[in-house]
Amino acid sequence: MAADAAGRRKAPPTALIVFGASGDLTSRKLMPGLASAAERGSLVDGFAVVGVARTEMDDEDFRQRVLEATPDAGPAWRDMVAGFRYVAGDYAHDDTFDALAKVLDELDASRGTSCNRVHYMATVPSVVPPVVEAMGRHGMNRPKSEDGFVRIVIEKPFGRDLSSARQLDQQVHAVFAEEQVYRIDHYLGKETVQNVLALRFANAIFEPIWNRRYVDSVQITVAEELGVGHRGGFYETAGALRDIVQNHLLQVLAITAMEPPATIDPQGIRDEKVKLLRAVDILTPDKVGNEVIRGQYVAGTVDGKEVVGYHDEEDVARDSRTETFMAAKLQIDNWRWAGVPFYIRTGKRLPHRVTEVAMEFKGVPHLPFASSETTGLHPNALSVRIQPDEGITLRFGAKVPGQAFTVRDVTMDFSYRESFAEEPPDAYERLLLDAMTGDPTLFIRSDEVEQAWRIVEPVLEAWQSPDVTLATYPAGTWGPPEADHLLERDGRRWREP
Ligand code: NDP
Ligand code: BG6
Repeated sequence: MAADAAGRRKAPPTALIVFGASGDLTSRKLMPGLASAAERGSLVDGFAVVGVARTEMDDEDFRQRVLEATPDAGPAWRDMVAGFRYVAGDYAHDDTFDALAKVLDELDASRGTSCNRVHYMATVPSVVPPVVEAMGRHGMNRPKSEDGFVRIVIEKPFGRDLSSARQLDQQVHAVFAEEQVYRIDHYLGKETVQNVLALRFANAIFEPIWNRRYVDSVQITVAEELGVGHRGGFYETAGALRDIVQNHLLQVLAITAMEPPATIDPQGIRDEKVKLLRAVDILTPDKVGNEVIRGQYVAGTVDGKEVVGYHDEEDVARDSRTETFMAAKLQIDNWRWAGVPFYIRTGKRLPHRVTEVAMEFKGVPHLPFASSETTGLHPNALSVRIQPDEGITLRFGAKVPGQAFTVRDVTMDFSYRESFAEEPPDAYERLLLDAMTGDPTLFIRSDEVEQAWRIVEPVLEAWQSPDVTLATYPAGTWGPPEADHLLERDGRRWREP
């Protein structure tokens, strides 16, 4: 991996072509990630972005939009943005790709992008096949020089279900070789998700208890305060299951529960993740009915502000049955996890943004204290906060100072912010650099994508029926009561992260 004398990673000269450059992902995640990379010195002078989308803009409008999305960025980024280009056009028209090819040639000559290309699909999933096909027709899929590279980054969700994911794979492979394809799931780029690997595999004390003998249950929460904003059009075609569960949530589950890889390299990690996903019990229609909860927010209050219900969001059908919340109980059928429930939940318009993996441990075989002395004692729990306030908390019992032998919960906290002076790089900063430097370790292989679709497919099928309950929850609450009942039936409760 290319790095400068100070050990900082440096991307080679590259033109990053962003399809969907007028969208939410581009301005909320990609440009801030790149701006941070520029300020850290990870981008060289021969770096440039070419935005492509249907929205009419010229180069100057696009640069302005990029700067608005990165208001805190410094001079290194501002200088780079001055060379960014924009191509407006429809992906169905060859003219769009002719114009793009011309701009790329100009950038090779004027900015030294050296014919290296990373094509980024930051647009709605349905446009990926026509764009890929057009790239093939226009010869944009192969490097122009022997030591150059052309890669394609494809956003999640990869396909809409198992068969469309397979079909998409074939369409992509008709134009690009597998080593050129980077299927992105930005949760894998989050520092704390990677820290789960460090916690588990760089320490002797956690792994021995990371199994069914000691773990009672696991909860994974991906909660968002945000509603769908201007993304109603996209969200209506996705819903929480396709938007978060099939990808981010199952990837976090895989990293949490997989076996130790022999090496932290692309093959080692991905082999273990896919083995774990294969062990996830595929839900039967009965279980979908009993163990999967589907919800949608209605008007409520988030962070002291009144917000509208999902039906009243922009570009959302008034009678939409798209889920904005999903909770489920999953089982992993292998020696390590048999019998340990994994409760997962995700939703928009929940009380606050938090992603957390929490493991609750079994109790001790015998408590040698009077029950009145342990009323403030709960099972040991380890929680990994993926965002925000990245860190790890261990809950255990301690004696309350005094004459009585009272035991209650205390916590031991590790906070990234307090322990390390440097801010961790944002997920997109890291993954964009990985794509430019050619490191696929944190990208998803097609067998993982397919296995994740196999897990969610019975739910997708069951939810096609108009008879399936769509529970509602007021914005600003932790989802519908049905999600609480899911755990209460098992004598457990959701943690309030
Ligand atoms: P947006 O809804 O903002 O759409 C992106 C762009 O796609 C739009 O600006 C629009 O540009 C273009 N577009 C929309 N509909 C169509 C259409 N029918 N045909 C052609 N182009 C269309 O989506 P996001 O940016 O939020 O998401 C893009 C991808 O990124 C999705 O796959 C999503 O899962 C993924 N993602 C998004 C994240 C986020 O936080 N937003 C985070 C992680 C992943 P124009 O009309 O100008 O062509
Ligand atoms: C994206 C989803 O993949 O992840 C969005 O499309 C969601 O709906 C986003 O808001 C959440 O990402 P993060 O990094 O803010 O947790």
